Amino acid sequence: MYDFRIEAADTGTMYRDLASALEGLVAGETDAVANMANAAALIWETLPDLNWAGFYRNVGGELVLGPFQGRPACIRIAFGSGVCGVAAETRQVQRVEDVNAFPGHIACDSASASELVVPIVRDGELIAVLDLDSPRTGRFNEEDEAGVVKVAEILSRAL
Ligand code: SME
Repeated sequence: MYDFRIEAADTGTMYRDLASALEGLVAGETDAVANMANAAALIWETLPDLNWAGFYRNVGGELVLGPFQGRPACIRIAFGSGVCGVAAETRQVQRVEDVNAFPGHIACDSASASELVVPIVRDGELIAVLDLDSPRTGRFNEEDEAGVVKVAEILSRAL
């Protein structure tokens, strides 16, 4: 059994603990689905105020739903469409304070108010995007972005 419950006093420590727990979880495992599933569960258990955490994989130039925690979600998203599709197309992190103000936002779960989407790239190839949704407007700040970018870097070597 894994027990990775992280209760850190501050956000920076929480993300450091999250990164080291994730390194441990994926160490020596090459199965991408297993590693995405454990990463989604670890993020879900660790970060407060989320209503969705998971992956969309690049399958032949289209985003297809991968392992996640939260409510059932949209299965396929075109590059350039919604927050995830823009992250995939531009390969730029999308940190959206208010999803209702984002043109083309795809409302898979009406509870979502803010969103952070981080591309996972290896050897110049987009593998997936990591998508976090929160019911709280402005949930994700620069420190969250840096922490989740680190998570994506670890996963780029494990997917
Ligand atoms: N809101 C996302 C769609 C994915 S769900 O949030 C899980 C978007 O606009 O890309």
